[in-house]
Amino acid sequence: MKIFLDTANIEEIKEVKDLGILDGVTTNPSLIAKEKKDFKKTIAAICEVVNGTVSAEVIALDWETMVKEGRELAAISEHVVVKVPFTKDGLKATSIMAAEGIDVNVTLIFSANQALLACKAGAAYISPFAGRLDDIGHDGIEVVGQCQAVVDTYDYDTEVIAASIRSTAHMLQCQEIAADIATIPYKVIEQMMKHPLTTSGIEQFLADWENAVK
Ligand code: E4P
Repeated sequence: MKIFLDTANIEEIKEVKDLGILDGVTTNPSLIAKEKKDFKKTIAAICEVVNGTVSAEVIALDWETMVKEGRELAAISEHVVVKVPFTKDGLKATSIMAAEGIDVNVTLIFSANQALLACKAGAAYISPFAGRLDDIGHDGIEVVGQCQAVVDTYDYDTEVIAASIRSTAHMLQCQEIAADIATIPYKVIEQMMKHPLTTSGIEQFLADWENAVK
């Protein structure tokens, strides 16, 4: 499974990259706004660090402006994947950009039916949101699994990004459903690394080492 970092924070990206576990980055308008820096310069800076794809989202809601913004974002770097929200205009923009060779990540997907339509429009990636579905009482990972099944069953040339990942439990479930990719916040990466038995095991080894013949 590929691991993407869901952030626009360059320090977090550099840190995770140095661990050797980073396959890409996803951003969204909320994450960009949090950094309080110029959007395109931020994307360019992230692209310089990451050896993988970097999703940057269009703001427009009409297909023509989506395509215009998407072309501008794609021109920043070969690493850029244009993120487009799932709407009727989003589908049209996706099919136009896909035909031009621009990789599109269709985001805000909440059902397998939306996933199917995005795949057919030529999305390189689809992002079903687990956490936001959980928030309204649904089983988010179950829906991500249904989206993954659409891609796998019909052999679409699309990768599924499990998005809106909030916990280590989500990450275990992503592995169970064999998600292609999970995009996760820095906090969840930190949580994944921790285990109390690893901590106590190290303490025990060090304590015993004190009594070893050296
Ligand atoms: C990634 O593509 C999404 O924008 C992100 O995972 C959304 O996460 P959230 O629901 O925690 O905001």
